[in-house]
Amino acid sequence: MSDMRIAVIGAGVMGSGIAQTTATYGYRTHCYDLSEDQIRAARELVVNGRYGLDRAVERNKISPEWARAAQERLSFGTDLAEALDSADLVIEAIPEDLGLKTRMFRRLDEMAPPEAILTSNTSGHPICALAGATTRPEKVMGWHWSSPPPVMPLAELVVTPQTSQATVDAVVQVATACGKNPVVVKENPFVWGFVGNRLLTAMVREAQRVVDEGLASKEQVDQIVVDGYRWPVGPFAMMEGASSGWGEKRSPSTAPEGAPWKRG
Ligand SMILES: NC(=O)c1ccc[n+]([C@@H]2O[C@H](COP(=O)([O-])OP(=O)(O)OC[C@H]3O[C@@H](n4cnc5c(N)ncnc54)[C@H](O)[C@@H]3O)[C@@H](O)[C@H]2O)c1
Repeated sequence: MSDMRIAVIGAGVMGSGIAQTTATYGYRTHCYDLSEDQIRAARELVVNGRYGLDRAVERNKISPEWARAAQERLSFGTDLAEALDSADLVIEAIPEDLGLKTRMFRRLDEMAPPEAILTSNTSGHPICALAGATTRPEKVMGWHWSSPPPVMPLAELVVTPQTSQATVDAVVQVATACGKNPVVVKENPFVWGFVGNRLLTAMVREAQRVVDEGLASKEQVDQIVVDGYRWPVGPFAMMEGASSGWGEKRSPSTAPEGAPWKRG
């Protein structure tokens, strides 16, 4: 088990899954949200959710002992100071609102230990704007998790010109230790979205245009992409599946040695 302490800010769909993941892979994790109701909902997701620990045990992905240990490493609360106390790495996962996130980064900077790294799971707001709200821009970067966090292997790590190499190295190390495959990319602060979302948006937009122009049906578009380009699913099946959670089936066979979450 690592000595590093992780604070996850926001215990919604992503935050609860992120906290579950870091706790499963050995990190003492504290997950903060605004209300007891939200904390109750997050606990329920972590234990009984579709991608939760009980389900992982049932499906023989982790042992009951691992699940119990993960729960022991994971705490929840509504006190931000408690969440940040001795945190080494902060992962922010509050709603996708730049003003809200900027204000949160200002508070994180004031309250977290000076050496703590601050990351955001924003889907596309500029990381440099969040870094600019702090006095430690070299310790700020994006960690864009894919959904659902316990399952999807990508860690899209987003750096600004000010992010230090030591910060990148530390986050790459944690992501790898959490069974993820990190990809470090830069951001264009004038365009919404990082690499993954920009590619996805372009593909989905073009697929819809092809259908709107009456050139092909949704099923035909999907078939062309799958049969012609070896994509696992087409854009329409993907959008359908994203709302019903097919990501579970697509985990790779690249988990590090000894990782509790068995792939495949
Ligand atoms: N849902 C996805 O598929 C997905 C994927 C990648 C990234 N993201 C990003 O992750 C972030 C969170 O998304 P989500 O889907 O988990 O949202 P969500 O609405 O499920 O969760 C947000 C949580 O933040 C809490 N919150 C709101 N204000 C807060 C504050 N000031 N302090 C602490 N907690 C606060 C809310 O109570 C809620 O529990 C967003 O930036 C989103 O764009 C989402």
